[in-house]
Amino acid sequence: MKKTLALALAAVMSLGLLAGCGPKEPANNGGSTTNPPSSASQPQGGDASSIPDAPAGGGTVGVCIYKFDDAFMTTYRNALQEILEGKGYKVTTVDGNNDQSKQNEQINTFITQGVDALIINPCMTSAADSIIATVKAAGVPTVLINREPTAEQMSAYDKLVYVGCDAAQSGTFQGELILETPNKGDINGDGKVSYIMIQGDPENIDAQLRTEYSVKALKDAGIEVEELDLQRGDWDREKGQTICANDLAQFGDQIEVVFCNNDDMAIGALQSIQAAGRKVNEDIYLVGVDALDAALNEVMNGNMTGTVLNDAVGQATAAVEEMEKLLGGATYSAGNQSVYVDYVKVTPDNAKDFVK
Ligand code: GAL
Repeated sequence: MKKTLALALAAVMSLGLLAGCGPKEPANNGGSTTNPPSSASQPQGGDASSIPDAPAGGGTVGVCIYKFDDAFMTTYRNALQEILEGKGYKVTTVDGNNDQSKQNEQINTFITQGVDALIINPCMTSAADSIIATVKAAGVPTVLINREPTAEQMSAYDKLVYVGCDAAQSGTFQGELILETPNKGDINGDGKVSYIMIQGDPENIDAQLRTEYSVKALKDAGIEVEELDLQRGDWDREKGQTICANDLAQFGDQIEVVFCNNDDMAIGALQSIQAAGRKVNEDIYLVGVDALDAALNEVMNGNMTGTVLNDAVGQATAAVEEMEKLLGGATYSAGNQSVYVDYVKVTPDNAKDFVK
């Protein structure tokens, strides 16, 4: 397989040379991807006119997931596996168990095995430099997913691209979901919105930006806010449940809004809300992110105020598209190495459209 691909690439590259092509405009981003206005940029690819897509089924792909025991990343990795296998790639997906040193070994093993491409969901954002140095030294085309490094970090390697979402957008949508309620989140009418924030892993940019932008949307709309508590729940349902139970015991009716950085924690929080005899959308609001099926059901039942679609299939599709551009010889220029898929605000009106 690998040999065939190498031969195909050699042929493609000589075609490119014959055509006398230097770097030109990027290959198209692909149908499902869009760039957020803040950082709008098309990835710079190789010469799309002279470098065709890599032949489907032309190689082996190593996929590193930060941990299998994560609800959203489970949907994402299943989508990746299905798309890649559907295109005839030989895929191996490994579980990093949220341990960066373990994932580093897995990356090295894939490199030793001679994979044609890597798709990596880093365990820690802070490991980006060393991951990028490793794949660059080995010359393996790499798509990073889900944890966005800085543009500067990515600029170290031109066969590297990031596929993800603009995390600030998901936070803004969460704030808007609260603003769209009849009392704009101020259930007790005291002139301010009192909330608790159940955060994901704070090392993760998604957690940082959702925390910041959900509240910013309220403030930007002129709403006074009061943070009763902010705690890390590490994206985990049980932690979400425990944090929310403790906060309900401590703050009781003062809590008007429960912001959760993801749905799994929101589902946990809902269990505590119900156990405390509170009723979502009547005496408390609850929002998450991801649009897991369980959360979509709760939105439709009125047990969650809303959520935000984190498009796993769209991101997996874009990741494979970018991988194929890299396999086809494309390179990316500094500052143009991120591809974003849009988030979508989910309310009871449109929730059913997203059930898988
Ligand atoms: C986020 C997602 C979380 C969790 C996290 C892992 O985008 O919303 O549920 O999967 O990624 O990094």
